[in-house]
Amino acid sequence: KIKEHRSIPPECKPVEESIWNQQFRDPVHGLLLPSLYGPVMTPRPSLLPFPQTQTLIRGLLPKFLLNGSLASHRRLTTVGHTPQPVIGQESVEVLGHSYPRDDFTNITAKILAKVGRNLHNQHHHPLWLIKERIRAHFYSSFITRSGNPLFSVHDNLSPVVSVEQNFDSLLIPPDHPSRNRGDNYYLNRNTMLRAHTSAHQTELVRSGLDAFLLAGDVYRRDEVDASHYPVFHQMEGVRLFSNHELFSKVQRGEELALFEPGGRRTPQKQETHTLEAVKLVEFDLKHTLTRLVTHLFGSGVEVRWVDCYFPFTHPSFEMEVRFQGDWMEVLGCGVMEQKLLNSAGADNKVGWAFGLGLERLAMVLFSIPDIRVFWSQDERFLEQFRVSDIHQPVCFQPLSKYPPLHNDISFWLPDASDRSGPQNFSEKDFYDLVRSVGGDLVEKVTLVDQFTHPK
Ligand code: PHE
Repeated sequence: KIKEHRSIPPECKPVEESIWNQQFRDPVHGLLLPSLYGPVMTPRPSLLPFPQTQTLIRGLLPKFLLNGSLASHRRLTTVGHTPQPVIGQESVEVLGHSYPRDDFTNITAKILAKVGRNLHNQHHHPLWLIKERIRAHFYSSFITRSGNPLFSVHDNLSPVVSVEQNFDSLLIPPDHPSRNRGDNYYLNRNTMLRAHTSAHQTELVRSGLDAFLLAGDVYRRDEVDASHYPVFHQMEGVRLFSNHELFSKVQRGEELALFEPGGRRTPQKQETHTLEAVKLVEFDLKHTLTRLVTHLFGSGVEVRWVDCYFPFTHPSFEMEVRFQGDWMEVLGCGVMEQKLLNSAGADNKVGWAFGLGLERLAMVLFSIPDIRVFWSQDERFLEQFRVSDIHQPVCFQPLSKYPPLHNDISFWLPDASDRSGPQNFSEKDFYDLVRSVGGDLVEKVTLVDQFTHPK
């Protein structure tokens, strides 16, 4: 038995009130319908539900969770709450293209409805504001000899990518756990919604770019809470250096080389790189990112570097920023794997890459307490970011006075003997189901209890 905990904290009002008013107001009397959203209307169920409940839940679960049939979602969803169905029996339609369904398809209509919203391109949206601040910083800090910005900025690449782009092109092995169906949104075996903006690194390098920023929406099947949402936004940065670009400012740089044949991979470097090349690239990367966060957070910001691992960079680091006494991870980065650059036609260059989470930065910079708020269309939220100068400080003011609500849900999983039994049930399936029905009203879902009937 699994119970759901639903709570709406007082901070998340914009979404709460706007959806509340649009969806749950009695259209005839204009009253709020307490049975849909009242203070814990469902009593905490006893451990053993009534037999009819058991039958009902058993009947519904396989359709939702196992066949992924989205047609059935519509039956349970509040009218006006469901996006236009774009998921057919045979195919899934996204951004005007049709993708045949197969056994990997796990995209939900709710998630598809987010594709194309492009919050990062919506003028004066807080995510747009952060993107523009980062763009402005790079434009003014890195200028070529001809007076143009060194970094080009790309924010319109489709989030529908091939599995090859999202994983293979980044040297992520075929059996790597990050490919799990449980963690990603697949349109089918070959196509998915990008799980990170790194999915475009190779194609942009192949197109000849040496320095670029790339912003976009990314999709991961995730738990439900105030800081996790299955759609969020990332900004990727890549910079490549030729031998001349890296060493020209160094004393006797003409004697140094990027590559060494027969070298060894160590914790500090890749086999093909010289230590001096890697140290300079690493220094440039850390210096660039430290300047960026100083620009965003102010000169008092405390930063620390943590060693980590990504299949497409080595060495790899995470940057953490001290915020309200805690260290908060804001980005991953590293020296790009040479194999990736070689396959993208940049075999005479070395480079660094980083990927940062825009919501993370925005939540801290603007004191936004809940990630769902970014999807709010409530004017009272949006107008707070309509500043004439992108650098003007903004502090988000919560709008609602409603306290959080908790709801318990319990249900039976099918028998273990059933082919579609609990062994095929993943908690992520339930999170997606909750999102499909409850939408942005749901802040957090946690498993509070499990019970197996002894019979
Ligand atoms: N793509 C990584 C992530 O989403 C971040 C990253 C980008 C790491 C670029 C290294 C280089 O976690």
